[in-house]
Amino acid sequence: MTTRSATSPLTVPGDKSIAHRALMLAALAQGESRLRNVPAGLDVRSTRRALAALGAAFADDAGTLVVRGTGGALIAPEAPVDCGNSGTTMRLLAGVLATRDIVATLDGDASLRARPMRRIAEPLGRFGARLVLSDGTAPFTMHGNGAARGTDVAIAIPSAQVKSAVLFAALAAHGTTSLSGMLRTRDHTERLFRACGVGCRGDGETLAVDGPAVPRALDFTIPGDVSSAAFLLAAAAVAPGAEVAVDDVGLNPTRTAFLDVLRRFGAHVDVVLAAGDEAEPRGRIAVRGAALHAVTIAPHEVADLIDELPLIGVIGAFAHGTTSVSGAGELRVKESDRIESFAAAARAIGARVDVSPDGFAVHGPARFRDADVVTNGDHRIAMAFAVGGRAANVRVRLDDPECAAVSFPGFFTALESLR
Ligand code: S3P
Repeated sequence: MTTRSATSPLTVPGDKSIAHRALMLAALAQGESRLRNVPAGLDVRSTRRALAALGAAFADDAGTLVVRGTGGALIAPEAPVDCGNSGTTMRLLAGVLATRDIVATLDGDASLRARPMRRIAEPLGRFGARLVLSDGTAPFTMHGNGAARGTDVAIAIPSAQVKSAVLFAALAAHGTTSLSGMLRTRDHTERLFRACGVGCRGDGETLAVDGPAVPRALDFTIPGDVSSAAFLLAAAAVAPGAEVAVDDVGLNPTRTAFLDVLRRFGAHVDVVLAAGDEAEPRGRIAVRGAALHAVTIAPHEVADLIDELPLIGVIGAFAHGTTSVSGAGELRVKESDRIESFAAAARAIGARVDVSPDGFAVHGPARFRDADVVTNGDHRIAMAFAVGGRAANVRVRLDDPECAAVSFPGFFTALESLR
């Protein structure tokens, strides 16, 4: 890998997690929201399509997405709502619907139909909503309870999607909803609630929302997606002397643990926070590659790194020593079983990998070779191994490169530009 000057930074599409939430809040708001840098990825399109089916109106105005909110008066969709490949769309939308007088069926592609939904059925059931699942998965029919009262919900899985489903349900419930349990996951919903004038109180151990609340319309620029930037930063990190900088990228502390992991590997990471008081911090990240040494990812770190773990495994294949991840059983229920997808692809490109029920270990450095890589339709597997192949200078043939467009349309062009 040759170098790219840190003075000519790249940008990446807007943050997918933040965009889902901003679109949902705009659709529930009273009035017109203006959202900039909304990513064109397929997952966010799924959210937009679903919200349009519920009565929100969207218009593109020279790069700004203008959303006419429903003020909470959603209409029942005429057909099953297709959430595509997007677990966030399905789970957060289920939360939105749980406390409204609506019956709706939510469905998705084959990958989404294989992902666990009981994790939302139980907490949303606390609001009197009834979610009729097909064997624990989608498609499912949500029978919302328009007379829901605020309630106490213990979050049993370290999942921002589950936490956010409950927070969205709390918006239309009467009275206070209190959440406890596993709340230390990305906090975009909490931040955007506050930006829309919805009280969301937290003391680190609990969260509380008073309903019913109609969000204020938003005027917001979505920062670049740090989880997309991670692939480009990794490409530099594994190549001693290479440099990549990404500008206008989200720097929410619940999403940047990957940067600390890059430092632990031995790469140089420089972060410059932009001035301003937007709901989501943002700025520039520059990475310079170095000879890397292995890292150990402990279970308590997993929630903050959940989307970057396959990429960390790929970086581990370039590092000296054994890079290991444990306590990450959640990887098995992502867009693919990311422990098995990662291990098979890493072995194909020449890495030695052990797997366990809740993690993996990579013995580096690998003797890389050309390979056919099976992505299992998983965008993060596709991008992680495209980066690995390019940095190792071997030919990686992905069976389904198009799946990268779920979160990062233009990824291959951006990766190519690093040459
Ligand atoms: C997301 C949360 C994470 C993450 C996913 C997006 C979100 O899932 O893996 O890509 O936007 O809330 P979990 O919260 O289920 O771990």
